[in-house]
Amino acid sequence: MSEATEQKPVEELTLEEAAEELERLATAIGHHDKLYYQKDAPEVSDAEYDALRQRNDAIEARYPELVREDSPSHRVGAAPAEEFGKVRHAVPMLSLANGFSEEDIRDFWQRIHRFLNLKEDDRLVLTAEPKIDGLSASLRYEKGKFVLGATRGDGREGENVTENLRTIKSIPGTLKGKNIPDVFEVRGEVYMGHADFEALNERQEKDGKPRFANPRNAAAGSLRQLDPKVTARRPLDFFAYAWGEVSELPGETQYDVVKTLESWGFTVNEHFHRCDSVEEMLSFYRKIEEQRASLGYDIDGVVYKVDSLSLQDRLGYVSRSPRWALAHKFPAEQATTVLEKIEIQVGRTGKLTPVARLKPVTVGGVVVSNATLHNEDEIDRLGVKLGDTVIVQRAGDVIPQIVRVVEEKRPKGAKKFKFPDRCPECGSHAVREVNPKTGKMDADRRCTGGLVCPAQAVERLRHFVSRNAFDIEGLGEKQIAAFYQDELVQRPDEIFTLEERDKSNLKKLKDREGWGATSVKNLFKAIDDRREVSLDRFIFALGIRHVGETNARLLARSYGTLENFEKQMLAAHDRESGAWEELLSIDGVGEVLAESVVEFFDEKHNREVLDALKKAGVKATPLEAQEATSPISGKTVVFTGSLEQMTRSEAKAKAEQMGAKVSGSVSAKTDLVVAGPGAGSKLTKAKELGVETITEDEWMEMARGN
Ligand code: IVH
Repeated sequence: MSEATEQKPVEELTLEEAAEELERLATAIGHHDKLYYQKDAPEVSDAEYDALRQRNDAIEARYPELVREDSPSHRVGAAPAEEFGKVRHAVPMLSLANGFSEEDIRDFWQRIHRFLNLKEDDRLVLTAEPKIDGLSASLRYEKGKFVLGATRGDGREGENVTENLRTIKSIPGTLKGKNIPDVFEVRGEVYMGHADFEALNERQEKDGKPRFANPRNAAAGSLRQLDPKVTARRPLDFFAYAWGEVSELPGETQYDVVKTLESWGFTVNEHFHRCDSVEEMLSFYRKIEEQRASLGYDIDGVVYKVDSLSLQDRLGYVSRSPRWALAHKFPAEQATTVLEKIEIQVGRTGKLTPVARLKPVTVGGVVVSNATLHNEDEIDRLGVKLGDTVIVQRAGDVIPQIVRVVEEKRPKGAKKFKFPDRCPECGSHAVREVNPKTGKMDADRRCTGGLVCPAQAVERLRHFVSRNAFDIEGLGEKQIAAFYQDELVQRPDEIFTLEERDKSNLKKLKDREGWGATSVKNLFKAIDDRREVSLDRFIFALGIRHVGETNARLLARSYGTLENFEKQMLAAHDRESGAWEELLSIDGVGEVLAESVVEFFDEKHNREVLDALKKAGVKATPLEAQEATSPISGKTVVFTGSLEQMTRSEAKAKAEQMGAKVSGSVSAKTDLVVAGPGAGSKLTKAKELGVETITEDEWMEMARGN
């Protein structure tokens, strides 16, 4: 996980960053749960684990619309709660693959046919039933007595919530009927019906307690009450639909076993049904979708299962889900609300994202007040104006979106949103690049104030000290983020004045948590050691967009010294100038790169940082100094004609390695032209200008170091 974002205060996370981080946290917390639960070998301390969970909760509290389906805050069984014992599921509790479209369902039907080698008109029966939006539980019966109940947990191991499950009326303590198998684990869904949910929330309010966001959360919260007496007062219900470990199966089909469960005293869903064609499955789906609002409990789709248990056996499993079952999910839920304003958020990479602030509305049980508008093209595409009534949609784990505008409801005089061309965080220009290949403008607008923009600062600092940039040992992501927050280092130059400032600071670095006299001494030495780096590292460290290591080397080689580079880039501001021409003439420098570099130097803030770096004693060593031994070091070389002994890119790389700058066109600044067979106008021009020209053979000799 990126420490840099982990350290970014929750209030400063953009909607997109928050969504990304929630995804990472879900994975990380899941990983730690697994280590704790299955391996009994936690990698992190309880405090570190708690910090992850707390951060997850804080982000979810700020952006409730981003709460994921697999959010750790939903995962009842997976939290390492010492209070509940662990239960290992003898048969793992699996998940279901999802389908969304009719086509997905037809594919599923075809897949089963192919797998079983069935012909289209061979009979195949599937069961169909609502997919209940609750939490699954496994109930173990021995000799007909309920002995152990567990949550799903991570699928292999859950929490022992037997006593709480006992309080649910639809879970029989003793099974009815004869011929009950010795061991039978019934699986199904614990849920809370709509009416019960409303009543519970009213009671909560009366007692001055917070309302539950939705029935699923209420059910989860109720099941993991430590005191079963509390659970008993919570109106939970249970639908049985599957089984785990069994000593014997009372049927040969899904349908028969579920009907037997009903006869033993369980509640099974009244819409449980058999289909013998894909058309029938789809019409079942449509029927359930229509009845959804009036069922009295939340569902999020329907589940199809191959009816024959022997066919289920043959079909088996793919990774964590059965090949014989599919969840047909309902489309994203939508709601109508009003767009109150549009705010611009600036991400770590400088991207400006418009976020719609909405009048809060419940979509699928979650209060949504933010939706992403992606970029200015999307605002145009939707034609959305401030104050518009809009349809919002929230699907699974994606950021809520605006689907469309209800134009009839547009208030008179509603204004178009004017997308800013300045970064709201730092005031630098925010630009859209033109893709030279398509001639189209990039959809995203980006802030050019990299080094000074607070939204990008930590990321930039992290880059600045990274291994291929200034490579300062002891100054990792964590330290950078902490120094930034405490205002010790907010700009790159401040790294180099840290020692000096520490002398006069009251709170010394060595007294900070995680530091001591030795580590501080080492850090200061590491910083001092890097007060001088090669020019290519220096340029790379600036984090100019499109300037990766290769381009940084190219620029360093082409301009020789930092002073010259700066001077030329400032001059290149004038697109009519020779400096702009020269920049573009460098082989490997295209318009996009050139624009980006020149724009960087156009920003006063960036120039200030460069000056401050110099003032702090930071120097860039010209590359020539390192490559001085080659005959073409520091020279500008042009390759023309076809090369027969080396590819063009190989020749270019070799020349660069020898300290030369390779250019695509011949000018008075060219020092050497390597002319292979078929060389044309460039060779002519070189001769006119009196530039030295050599043959490919001569070049090969030079390259070999003769
Ligand atoms: S069958 C091997 N049937 O959906 C398949 N699951 O995504 C076992 N669920 O964890 C599950 N209603 O919590 C099945 N009628 C239903 C269901 C159902 C809800 C949940 C269950 C499971 C999840 C899988």
